[in-house]
Amino acid sequence: MSDQGNGKVVVNRAMSLDGFIAGPGDDMGWGGKRSLADYVAPEDFAAIAAATGAMLVGRRTWEVGDKMEAEEPGSVDYPFSGPMFLLTHRPLDPPDPEVTILTGDIGEAVAIALDAAGGKDLEILGADVAAQCLQRGLVDEILVYVLPLLLGDGVHFSAPGAPRLELEPVSSIRSRDATILRFRVRK
Ligand SMILES: NC(=O)c1ccc[n+]([C@@H]2O[C@H](COP(=O)([O-])OP(=O)(O)OC[C@H]3O[C@@H](n4cnc5c(N)ncnc54)[C@H](OP(=O)(O)O)[C@@H]3O)[C@@H](O)[C@H]2O)c1
Repeated sequence: MSDQGNGKVVVNRAMSLDGFIAGPGDDMGWGGKRSLADYVAPEDFAAIAAATGAMLVGRRTWEVGDKMEAEEPGSVDYPFSGPMFLLTHRPLDPPDPEVTILTGDIGEAVAIALDAAGGKDLEILGADVAAQCLQRGLVDEILVYVLPLLLGDGVHFSAPGAPRLELEPVSSIRSRDATILRFRVRK
């Protein structure tokens, strides 16, 4: 998609060393109620957020975030305040004027959200949504925060049926307690 503007389409994930992007029951407290922001150096987190111009989020990820926020206010704080797009077949109740709901074709949804990113990156959040984007060849980069823990069980990085893809390593940096890996998706 990068030929449509300067921004990249980036699948952004935090992952335990044994390949889980959430624990059992969608737990993103990483088994110890330690948030992602606590693992990553603040300046790296802020730089990635600053490079992000819009987000495209799946409905289940949205609901997990809502639940975390309700249980522990501030736990999903992320230094990003740009356009937010939610992929869902159902309206939000109550509606949220700061979120644009998209539905249907994933290619169109990515094009709309990337356009709104205004030349910055579009961040894709949600395993199912990311898998749709990867399947359609819409993803430029995968960014993984590898966290120093073994979860043993939970939600896998890839769901069964996910495509086999060749990735090109871009960078690997140690950031406080996390390792940030970037890969370019070969097309
Ligand atoms: N570690 C991380 O960095 C990270 C980041 C994000 C999420 N997660 C984890 O990933 C899990 C959530 O991912 P998920 O794969 O279950 O779900 P998801 O990708 O967040 O959301 C999937 C839902 O989005 C809606 N949707 C998807 N494509 C659509 C389309 N083309 N048109 C309209 N609606 C569409 C559908 O909901 P409806 O039909 O119900 O509307 C679908 O069930 C959770 O466990 C979460 O904790 C981890």
